[in-house]
Amino acid sequence: MIRIKVPATSANIGVGFDCMGLAVSLYSSVDFEESNRRLEIYGCPKNFRNENNLIYQAFVKCCNFLNQSIPNLKITIENNIPLSRGLGSSAFCIVAGLKGANDWFDAPLSNDQLLELATEIEGHPDNVAPAIFGQLNVSFTDENSDVQTVHYNVDGSLQFVCLIPDYPVSTDQARNILPKEMSYPTAVYQVGHAIALSKALVDGNLKLIKHSIIDQMHEPYRKKLIPDYDKAKGICQQANGTMYISGSGSTMMAIVKTQKDAEKIIQQTKTSFPNWQAYHLHIDAKGATSEVI
Ligand code: HSE
Repeated sequence: MIRIKVPATSANIGVGFDCMGLAVSLYSSVDFEESNRRLEIYGCPKNFRNENNLIYQAFVKCCNFLNQSIPNLKITIENNIPLSRGLGSSAFCIVAGLKGANDWFDAPLSNDQLLELATEIEGHPDNVAPAIFGQLNVSFTDENSDVQTVHYNVDGSLQFVCLIPDYPVSTDQARNILPKEMSYPTAVYQVGHAIALSKALVDGNLKLIKHSIIDQMHEPYRKKLIPDYDKAKGICQQANGTMYISGSGSTMMAIVKTQKDAEKIIQQTKTSFPNWQAYHLHIDAKGATSEVI
């Protein structure tokens, strides 16, 4: 049996809209094993237990890419990444399926090749890159339509708290709410801030993170879809942290420097929003891993 473990991912990081993403220490896993039936899927709602399952679709895509016939498969999912909350639940499915198939055939594909396939399925690389590689990744599609990813190691002193509301935000709605154009001054603002933020994350420079993370491209529009955005932000700021919308939301991710501040955010979140989930997380350094059991 092959077990693939994939970290949750947090895209955008404020000013890195559609290009920056980091992997965090919240994990889901999928077991792949031979079956005497064509397909069995366990560990997900009934409507996902069929050929349209994204994990299976990604597995099939990789088999086709490798010119291998699709084996009879038993898929067992243990998912801890909430759906439609901006924590990379679809990236988890895609990366698990691709990596599961690649390992099934003795891993002929590199992580860079898996990233190309994953981006074809997902449509953009910002979540799938950190799901594969771990850490912070800055990605873009180049002039030949190839995906380029730059890896940064985030300073280990930084700690993260994800605040997961008890309501989802639809990615379609979160994209439709954005303006179609942006001005030169805003573009200049974003470029400078995003480059500075990458360095600040590598250096663990929370002061610079707080200045550079402030986005003008999507958060001012998307915060309207998260009615508790301002209150959640206040909780993070009172604990010496900063906060951004993870992916297209609804999760908000706080960045702090101490365990005490992380605990303060969790405590305050539980008091103010008893139905939310809040987890103290760290950067995931490895990305998706596999194990033969
Ligand atoms: N970057 C995407 C967005 C979501 O903000 O719409 C994550 O891929």
